[in-house]
Amino acid sequence: MELYEAMSTLRAVRRLKPDPIPDDVQGRILNAATWAPTGGNVQPWRMVAVTDADKKQTLEDLYRPYWEAYIPGYESKMKNMPEEVQASTNRALDAGTYLANHMHEVPLIAVFCFNPGIMTITDIDQPRTSVVGGGSVYPAVQNFLLSCRNEGLGCVLTTLLCYEEPAVKELLGIPEDWYTCAHVPVGYPVLGGHGSISRRGIDEMVSFNSWR
Ligand SMILES: Cc1cc2nc3c(=O)[nH]c(=O)nc-3n(C[C@H](O)[C@H](O)[C@H](O)COP(=O)(O)O)c2cc1C
Repeated sequence: MELYEAMSTLRAVRRLKPDPIPDDVQGRILNAATWAPTGGNVQPWRMVAVTDADKKQTLEDLYRPYWEAYIPGYESKMKNMPEEVQASTNRALDAGTYLANHMHEVPLIAVFCFNPGIMTITDIDQPRTSVVGGGSVYPAVQNFLLSCRNEGLGCVLTTLLCYEEPAVKELLGIPEDWYTCAHVPVGYPVLGGHGSISRRGIDEMVSFNSWR
């Protein structure tokens, strides 16, 4: 599919069918992740591709309470939003609740892991939250998402399971010096799947030569 079309329609798809992903398709989406740029060419990330029914159920059980706790905060923010935004936000929240109750059914949950010990983290000494390390992992996640889009698969980047990182690490046998940063459920969409997105435009996001 055309690259800009894929990028501009890569919205979150949270209603996913249990139908299996053919091996050749799965191979391509996994491979796409490995093409991402990486600090120092170290590729300090790994993915645990979870297909086991019991493990997917455990991930769902760990995820659901955090999704349920997240909704009320969002609903209170919605009160000041225009009606059409409220309607689309409500649809997204419903889809999120669907995912929280059906995560065990999706054919694949991609758990992205990273090892900070082998990363080049150039902002580590700054007196703020360090983000550069994530730059060696999230491009792989984005490649993976775009590849799913290209294959007609639905997917959504999630992070709520990071609240339960020790339990996820134990479940998946992730070594002590590796951590988790994204969990991407993947499957064929129940409804229309990916489609138009709403984002701030370049007028707001970009300035030339100095900060505004
Ligand atoms: C860092 C990050 C964390 C996210 N965590 C979650 C999550 O835990 N659960 C979820 O349903 N969506 C999660 N999302 C997806 C966002 O909610 C989604 O991209 C956003 O609402 C925009 O929706 P749209 O892509 O459908 O326009 C996350 C996205 C990012 C970038």
